[in-house]
Amino acid sequence: MAIPHLAKIPTIDVGEDEEDLISNECKELIHSCPKEKGWRTSFLYKFQGFWCQSKEIQAIISFQKHFRAKSSDVILATIPKSGTTWIKALTFAIMNRKSFPISNENHPLLASNPHDLVPFLEYKLYANNRNPDLSNILEPRIFGTHVPYGSLRESIKSSDCRVVYVCRNPFDTFISSWHYCIKLRLESQPPLPLEEAFDMYCKGVIGFGPFWEHMLGYWKESLARPNNVLFMKYEDMKEDAISHLKKLANFLGVPFSIEEEKAGLVEEIMKLCSFGNLKDLEVNKSGKSIKDFDNKYLFRKGEIGDWVNYLSPSMVEKLSKIMEDKFGDSGLKFKVLSSVS
Ligand code: A3P
Repeated sequence: MAIPHLAKIPTIDVGEDEEDLISNECKELIHSCPKEKGWRTSFLYKFQGFWCQSKEIQAIISFQKHFRAKSSDVILATIPKSGTTWIKALTFAIMNRKSFPISNENHPLLASNPHDLVPFLEYKLYANNRNPDLSNILEPRIFGTHVPYGSLRESIKSSDCRVVYVCRNPFDTFISSWHYCIKLRLESQPPLPLEEAFDMYCKGVIGFGPFWEHMLGYWKESLARPNNVLFMKYEDMKEDAISHLKKLANFLGVPFSIEEEKAGLVEEIMKLCSFGNLKDLEVNKSGKSIKDFDNKYLFRKGEIGDWVNYLSPSMVEKLSKIMEDKFGDSGLKFKVLSSVS
């Protein structure tokens, strides 16, 4: 089953600080941004209030300049390592279930990684082309992004598009980020000690962070505009996938019919997109959706609470305190400690 509208999209390039691909104008801007040592690139730069790589800045500027959301668009937003791959798979399966029946042995998710089916705005689409032609993408279009809400707002404000944000508890997000970064670092780079990464994370220095600002930006918008922004938690989705799939389908405007529910379609989608199923697919064992980087690293453990195997009591105390301070009385809460006691 071909997916013609996505066939021409190039692979994601999240390479090193590739200064030569950056325009002079953007280079000047980058050099005026505060910078800190990066997790795997030489530096992260503070741009529009969040930390990112130099090449991402160029792509984000292009995206902000040219992308205009349509009302039928769906934007899947996350901070990295929060369940991006999972929500892309689920949303693609739910929204395309008429054209791509779930039980079909040629379902696109069986042959393509979710990042190939749902392209990132700031990587795949605007990374290598300042103004890509999106006119031949079939509607409703589904995009992914890690860009914080504040920097997305202008591009979507004139539309009624839907945004789904998946949020994962900061303890597990940190551990998942650290493992991923280890895999992504070049062989010539020394390993990044857990303690050093933890200090950076606590200072907010992580791609698209500080994590608390990223989460709060979408959280507040979901409270202000619940029909347009759905805030989901990775842990809740793991604990009760079925009801969250239904909630997601309702929000997306494609609720499951009674017949579909009776036929077990919700369970089928849950199974198709499950960690175990996706991880074992050939495309996810041996393919590459991100340039020079194996899909297999996108699937590590997929569990809640793995952080207990890595963080010392003082680290737990420090991160808990940061969460308490930053999330304050916003209403955003995580069942982090209770989930392992
Ligand atoms: P762990 O490193 O804790 O295992 P992202 O997709 O945003 O990069 O997030 C990656 C995290 O989501 C990894 O967590 C990965 O194992 C987990 N993950 C990937 N696919 C998943 C799925 N289908 N269901 C649940 N978790 C998944």
